[in-house]
Amino acid sequence: MIIAGNLKTNHTRASTKDYIEILNKFMYVNSIKDKVYIFPPFTAIDNFITNVKVGIQNAYPTESGSFTGEIGFSQIEEFKIDTILIGHSERRHILGESNELIQEKFNFFKEKNFIIFYCIGEPLEIRKQGLDAVLEYIDNQLIGIDLNYENLIIAYEPVWAIGTGVSASVKEIKETHLALKEKFSKPLLYGGSVKPSSVKEILEIDEVDGVLIGTASWKIEDFNKILEISKEI
Ligand code: 13P
Repeated sequence: MIIAGNLKTNHTRASTKDYIEILNKFMYVNSIKDKVYIFPPFTAIDNFITNVKVGIQNAYPTESGSFTGEIGFSQIEEFKIDTILIGHSERRHILGESNELIQEKFNFFKEKNFIIFYCIGEPLEIRKQGLDAVLEYIDNQLIGIDLNYENLIIAYEPVWAIGTGVSASVKEIKETHLALKEKFSKPLLYGGSVKPSSVKEILEIDEVDGVLIGTASWKIEDFNKILEISKEI
């Protein structure tokens, strides 16, 4: 099982250090066998000594150069990071990232052999039109993405379920994942308001290979609770 926490714009350098230490200890004491990934904010990235895999939330597809406010491969390499989130809905919809830029990022970090968490998912108006419309929307997000790339992990995160406190239903997740798994054979995570109270029923869905968690990963107690629950599945 893959359990990933996206800290987004939360936590400081100091609190991330504490978070990772507590998490690492918890995983050791409880013999957690999941693959655990944490995506801290840029300023908190460090050479952590931990079993937790630390990834980057975003980067520009460049070695270095003039891209004010962005970081490139050389800034990531310094910390020996080889995992990145690409296509997150907040970058697509709030920061206006185009499919073209997302494809460029994908290809750049694929060349670098990164583990890529590629995020897909539809907005509410598309979900309201039914599953076919959802799949058509997602097909567009998959254009130019090499679905055979060996280090690819896909996260289905419906935009309407992110940060709303209301996850997609088990039925919606199951039917969407079933249909998506006909398109590719890569690990497929669900993300969108996963909480300690809902993670069991979500992880029990056969077609769910793990979860990508925002809000419920920000408090280490909640994230650890999720890991504890995942152990029983
Ligand atoms: P929430 O868990 O807060 O809905 O966020 C999900 C997410 O965006 C993970 O990348």
